[in-house]
Amino acid sequence: MRIVLVGPPGAGKGTQASLLAEHLAIPHISTGDLFRANIRQGTELGRQVDAILREGGLVPDEVTVAMAADRMAQPDAANGFLLDGFPRNITQAKALDELLAESGTKLNAVLDLEVPEEEVVRRIAGRRTCRKDSSHTFHVENKPPREEGVCDVCGGELYQREDDQEGTVRKRLAVYHEETEPIIGYYGEQGLVSTISALAPVPEVTRRALEALPGGG
Ligand code: AP5
Ligand code: ZN
Repeated sequence: MRIVLVGPPGAGKGTQASLLAEHLAIPHISTGDLFRANIRQGTELGRQVDAILREGGLVPDEVTVAMAADRMAQPDAANGFLLDGFPRNITQAKALDELLAESGTKLNAVLDLEVPEEEVVRRIAGRRTCRKDSSHTFHVENKPPREEGVCDVCGGELYQREDDQEGTVRKRLAVYHEETEPIIGYYGEQGLVSTISALAPVPEVTRRALEALPGGG
């Protein structure tokens, strides 16, 4: 199954993507996690994108599409994947369609996670992220780690992402409305979109997402 997860920053895309990917036995591909891994490892790509992520802007499309295409071409993604944070605008959505057409495949579903803005701000303010692997996320109230400041999964140090400061979150939300939301209409015309209310406990949102997938996941 080839799935795109879309929704505002802090909607719970990463949280749901990890759970759904495990359930469906497909890789979770997050462009945000890939960029942060490059920044942490000090690669050339990481140096190019560091300031953009800090400021909450979008990385240029050519760079993002090339990185996503490279990841989707790995053997573990041959039979499907769950994209989280990509595509993020119409140009990227069209580039993805072309990439899939070249390999004779297409998307099966787009899950749109809907969360009110006050809740997004609350979720991001309380989020703590693992320095070793940014797909390991916690929340001071909703999902506290067993030991304060320490990742349950790998023992890495937990920190607050630089782009989770309030001013940057507002910028990311504005970018989401302007650049990313239009892809919901684009995929809607292809009959691919299921909108899910993500204002519920994590397991309930997972249940709703699975139910919305073709064949019930
Ligand atoms: P990215 O990493 O994709 O960030 P984002 O889209 O802003 O999403 P977040 O990671 O902030 O949130 P999420 O929806 O995954 O929520 P989470 O599950 O953590 O992108 C970062 C940057 O990279 C961009 O700004 C851009 O610069 C660049 N970038 C990435 N992709 C790009 C692209 N395609 N093109 C160009 N640039 C790109 O949950 C949030 C918190 O809420 C957590 O603490 C969690 O524990 C908690 N939580 C989750 N679900 C629930 C629930 N149901 N109830 C209560 N709490 C919950
Ligand atoms: Zn970790």
